[in-house]
Amino acid sequence: MAPIINQWAVITIILSGIALVVGVFFIRRGNREAHMRAMLTASALATVFLVLYLTRLALGYEKQYVGPDQWRAAYFALLISHIILAAANLPLALGALFNAWKGLKAAGNLGRIDAAPARTFFNRHRAWVRWTVPVWLYVAVTGWIIYLVLGRYGEVVTG
Ligand code: HEM
Repeated sequence: MAPIINQWAVITIILSGIALVVGVFFIRRGNREAHMRAMLTASALATVFLVLYLTRLALGYEKQYVGPDQWRAAYFALLISHIILAAANLPLALGALFNAWKGLKAAGNLGRIDAAPARTFFNRHRAWVRWTVPVWLYVAVTGWIIYLVLGRYGEVVTG
């Protein structure tokens, strides 16, 4: 059961990364409506990931690295940076979403984001996403790499 949950956790975090890239692509092309949908999809997938990940932890399923020693330090550097940034990603995403939502409420619709109160929130949204997007992508890509490394060089330790 736990390995399947783990597999789905990785699938959902990769899909959320893809939705994120798609969302950035849409906003670059000026398509705000599609941007919003892609980013809400990315956020929903990341939430599903979090639930699956926490379930897996609760089940006590964990793998430890038993690969070549010369790669151990690099693996742990990757793992630690992944964990720290994954924890940072939640408040970053919430900050981005909160300001987008406040901005949308102030504007009334996505065609009027330059109206005075809405503009302030969307400027904040832009400031948040400057950090949210790279951190999110780093977490998604490194999560996938860690999964692959542990698939090859991992040993299950049941807690
Ligand atoms: C966590 C989810 C989200 C992320 C990571 C994100 C990311 C981004 C990025 C990278 C930009 C371009 C910023 C720039 O050009 O400097 C942007 C702009 C924008 N986003 Fe989002 N976004 C998210 C959610 C949303 C949602 C839910 C909405 C709709 C309510 C939204 C509405 C907008 C709008 C209207 C802009 C254009 C702002 C402007 O031109 O000043 N975003 N977002």
